Amino acid sequence: MHLSLSHLASALFLAGLAAGQDTSVRKVKNAFRAADIPADLALAFKPTALLDVSLPQASGRPLTLHAGIQVPRDDTAGPPTFRVTGNVGAGPFVVAMIDPDAPTPQSPSSAQIRHFLGGDFVNRGGLLVNSTPAISQFLQPTPPAGSDAHRYIFLLFKQSAGFADQTLVDSTTSIAKFNISEFASTTQLGNPIAGTFMLVAPNPAT
Ligand SMILES: *[C@@H]1O[C@H](CO)[C@@H](O)[C@H](O)[C@H]1NC(C)=O
Repeated sequence: MHLSLSHLASALFLAGLAAGQDTSVRKVKNAFRAADIPADLALAFKPTALLDVSLPQASGRPLTLHAGIQVPRDDTAGPPTFRVTGNVGAGPFVVAMIDPDAPTPQSPSSAQIRHFLGGDFVNRGGLLVNSTPAISQFLQPTPPAGSDAHRYIFLLFKQSAGFADQTLVDSTTSIAKFNISEFASTTQLGNPIAGTFMLVAPNPAT
């Protein structure tokens, strides 16, 4: 018996994934496509940069996502910090986090849930710093008991000139039934320039 090259390659690939953040725009794009995200969001995803999303942990180092990582729900308390890698300029930028799978991926009748929406992020040597309060504060994933894992998708947009005056969403607007593609189109954000996502399942029953 011998280990085939393709097995070895996929083992190395998985080891690389387990090690941390996204390192390739192409791989992120492929992971989005494999998870049906552009189709389900009705959004073109042609990233030109990498969005690093780091979740602080109760002990130890923050967890930095790579596209498609499965994260235990208890490790997602956040709030996340964001970094960008790529030639994207100084900003400002908009960051959104959405769940298209609520309450379940099979029947997402309340999707999308807006888990985070913030503008006025500026690029400080890669770190994205938010100079104004978020429109929707970060909300930890809470997939309901019995559901399959949900996709929690982070998207980075270049902020449009009119974004600061948008009236579609404020801190009192329901976070359910959000539509990121409609929102991005109405506020002239265009398509995201970067993104990543994680899978989070309900806590095991106790
Ligand atoms: C969101 O809006 C777009 C139009 O911008 C539409 O094509 C799409 O079906 C909508 N998605 C949902 C889940 O309603």
